Amino acid sequence: MIVNEEVKVLLSQKQIHERIEQIAAQITQDYHGRSPICIGVLKGAFIFMADLVRKIDLPLRTDFLTVSSYGDTTKSSGIVRMLSDLSKPVEDEDLIIIEDIVDTGRTLHYLIENLRTRNPRSIRTCALLHKPELKEVDVQIDYIGFTIPNHFVIGYGLDAAQKYRNLDYIGYFPNPKPKTI
Ligand code: IMP
Ligand code: MG
Repeated sequence: MIVNEEVKVLLSQKQIHERIEQIAAQITQDYHGRSPICIGVLKGAFIFMADLVRKIDLPLRTDFLTVSSYGDTTKSSGIVRMLSDLSKPVEDEDLIIIEDIVDTGRTLHYLIENLRTRNPRSIRTCALLHKPELKEVDVQIDYIGFTIPNHFVIGYGLDAAQKYRNLDYIGYFPNPKPKTI
């Protein structure tokens, strides 16, 4: 879908799908004989998670939580809020947190600390995108799709003010408009 000629493609649908196949194969191998719970971080991870879990050959389970740290700006507020929680306790479970993107690292750090208090058997993390330039908090990402430069990216689940999540590629605006606020 082409929505705006200003949007540049950073990662095509084909590149994303090829990388997802590789990550899924790795997770299938790493969790052989187990039944992890893949925890999708809404809203941004919904498309990545849907594509990833269908390529993982395990009797996995899925759950979701919703966090918000951005409001409608393109800069992290640094304050992470949990807007909806998991549907069940996760004690003694193997958890894989599925994120769209790790930017400052604050959201993933918050989630790891929060889930750790529930005594799971293990926690690993998987992010489609990693923007290391803006790192503020050290977090371990066990499965990374792509390391990308410091663009504000949209598409494939990622939004700008809640729009563009339905693009089937990852794009960015090459000439972002100057901030008015
Ligand atoms: P962090 O807490 O700064 O690591 O940001 C993580 C969250 O901010 C991600 O889960 C995204 O939802 C959102 N985010 C960070 N960078 C971008 C971006 O470039 N485009 C869209 N959303 C982003
Ligand atoms: Mg997110």
